[in-house]
Amino acid sequence: MIVVCPSCQTQYDLNDQLVQEPTFIARCTKCQHTFAAYQPVRVEEISFLKLAETKKKSDLDKVVVISNQKGGVAKTSTCLNLGQSLAMQNKRVLLVDFDVQANLTISLGYKETNSFYEALNGGGGIEKNILETKYKNLWLFPSNKNMVLLNKKYFGARNFEFLLKDRLLPIMERFDYILIDTPPSIEFFTLNALTTAGMVIIPSQCDFLSTHGIDQILKLIQLIKVKTNPRIEARILITMFDKESTASKMIFTKLKRLYPGMTFDTLIEMDARIREAQIMSMPVLEYNQQSKAGRQYLRLAKEILGHPLDVS
Ligand SMILES: Nc1ncnc2c1ncn2[C@@H]1O[C@H](COP(=O)(O)OP(=O)(O)O)[C@@H](O)[C@H]1O
Ligand SMILES: [Mg+2]
Repeated sequence: MIVVCPSCQTQYDLNDQLVQEPTFIARCTKCQHTFAAYQPVRVEEISFLKLAETKKKSDLDKVVVISNQKGGVAKTSTCLNLGQSLAMQNKRVLLVDFDVQANLTISLGYKETNSFYEALNGGGGIEKNILETKYKNLWLFPSNKNMVLLNKKYFGARNFEFLLKDRLLPIMERFDYILIDTPPSIEFFTLNALTTAGMVIIPSQCDFLSTHGIDQILKLIQLIKVKTNPRIEARILITMFDKESTASKMIFTKLKRLYPGMTFDTLIEMDARIREAQIMSMPVLEYNQQSKAGRQYLRLAKEILGHPLDVS
């Protein structure tokens, strides 16, 4: 089981057999903080449908998860606008809202939709609940507040990290890319998303504490590589970049040095159009084709597709 220190966020992978009690006191060897930890309650056994089937290696490569334990770093904005940009490049894109806050679902103008919770509990699986958005090549598998029940129901069940992958496998062939938005916490949702993906994009602002957030998620990814998904690769995306700020430029240089070869060449600049588009419940390039950040997301899509970077 994975235990996270609530004080310094260090993650520990404990051998299940060593943990006898449902509640136990743990001490973080890094910051010495003492805290109560809980055995996940094994409420439900999961029956897997497709996991045993051998799939093409490329299946996982099309799944990209957007993750960072820090909130407000543009995870949801990146999922929406990178997804839309890939769709504009004639790729069939499924956006998966895997955050109980449902910000991605709301950003596309949907309310009162089903979610993974209903899909698993009598709602007919993922396929029946995918929404075709009004934008060409773009589909959404939405979220709602009932998703919180999944954490209670399955977190800690045997192989719970594989549940999303198992249920996505039957529909993978329909899409060129599947982008998953995640919450700023490590529980059922983030662990499932990281287990399913070939790539994790870590959005990060160029502020003083950004390296801390990146280090945290990279440590988690090391654990995921060993435990559930050896193929996952991490890339860092700089978001809300202020090109007038000397501090931002200094931190960007530092990030490139600290994480060589991991940072995307494309930067996403601060752009008020992103917020305006969110208010209008649409991807930014649909709201304003000239949006600077919108065009940078298009450039990011081309970088991911390996196309020449001809959009400035
Ligand atoms: N490039 C940008 N320029 C300006 N504001 C942005 C940009 N990207 C995101 N935002 C705004 O920052 C806030 C947080 O973004 P969001 O995508 O919701 O982050 P997260 O999902 O990581 O919490 C939102 O209000 C969003 O509109
Ligand atoms: Mg979000």
